[in-house]
Amino acid sequence: MAITYELIKTCKQTGARLGKVHTPHGSFETPMFMPVGTLATVKTMSPEELERMGAQIILSNTYHLWLRPGEDIVEEAGGLHKFMNWNGSILTDSGGFQVFSLSDLRQIEEEGVHFRNHISGEKLFLSPEKAMHIQNSLGADIMMAFDECPPYPAEHKYMKDSVERTSRWAERCLEAHKRPHDQGLFGIIQGGEYEDLRQQSARDLTSMDFPGYAIGGLSVGEPKDVMNRVLDFTTPLLPDQKPRYLMGVGSPDSLIDGSIRGIDMFDCVLPTRIARNGTLMTSQGRLVVRNAKYARDFRPIDENCDCHTCRNYSRAYIRHLVKANETFGFRLTTYHNLYFLLNLMRQVREAIREDRLGDFREEFFEQYGFNKP
Ligand code: GUN
Ligand code: ZN
Repeated sequence: MAITYELIKTCKQTGARLGKVHTPHGSFETPMFMPVGTLATVKTMSPEELERMGAQIILSNTYHLWLRPGEDIVEEAGGLHKFMNWNGSILTDSGGFQVFSLSDLRQIEEEGVHFRNHISGEKLFLSPEKAMHIQNSLGADIMMAFDECPPYPAEHKYMKDSVERTSRWAERCLEAHKRPHDQGLFGIIQGGEYEDLRQQSARDLTSMDFPGYAIGGLSVGEPKDVMNRVLDFTTPLLPDQKPRYLMGVGSPDSLIDGSIRGIDMFDCVLPTRIARNGTLMTSQGRLVVRNAKYARDFRPIDENCDCHTCRNYSRAYIRHLVKANETFGFRLTTYHNLYFLLNLMRQVREAIREDRLGDFREEFFEQYGFNKP
């Protein structure tokens, strides 16, 4: 088996899991946040910087790499790890989500999805078999099944048909997957906010014996309490001895609340995307460094952060760079935001180890400002 999960302990206060996922490119500790490198690069960061900030696994996208440079070129380079010079673990998403989030003209059929290239307008088709073929060529340690991620809210009838199609597609993915010995394929549970459909989806997919399971269809515009309720009834349906991945979630509060509900892996473009417009995550909440009040503020972004950016550069300097659209400014903000989330997960793991994740949550939320009205 390409992917194995080791459960180290559960937090006595919350039930959160401390564990390790072993992949052909080393192990990563869980709960873990995965920086997103859509086009085989975490925007503005070098692999050396990712390693230095403590990243152990990054995510990349089938859909984008298929369109450019093409999976054949990545394969010819020796796979994604060699192509981008990242020797840690990599996970590729299947394209299922991107087809739905990036293209408006699409037609879903049993065979797959017809849609248009979001850049050129060219007609394209993606199916479970094609998504597996591309991901086999890319060679990530973890690949994702090709699924449908319906929008929120979706009617029960639509969602039921979609869940059933996603289950049939999952079978086809397992069938088409050519490298189970060195690439682990994860199944994706769908079903929106509906408990009966999440049960149905989990029952279908767990009967297929994937080495890990993702919960998809969340963080698509639903309120936080809906997401937490869905996790409350969905994670208990998943096997204890396999990793659980909550797709597309990366706000600090959701990372903590997801961990408390038994999630092991997270990814999101949030830290890197907001960094590029000058928004920083700090222990006291978000800081918008473009604001005039930082023009003469020579303190670090976060006085409680010991990242390279905070140890060496001031708010005033970073504000100047960001306002002048200087690349270096975006490198500094991206480094800090990723470090902030990776460090948050380190603290979450430490709190699980010491059975105090509930206390940690209270303290963190208080400081971050989530408890304020
Ligand atoms: N990324 C965020 N949500 C999803 C989802 O539901 N499916 C897939 N494939 N990727 C996602
Ligand atoms: Zn910092």
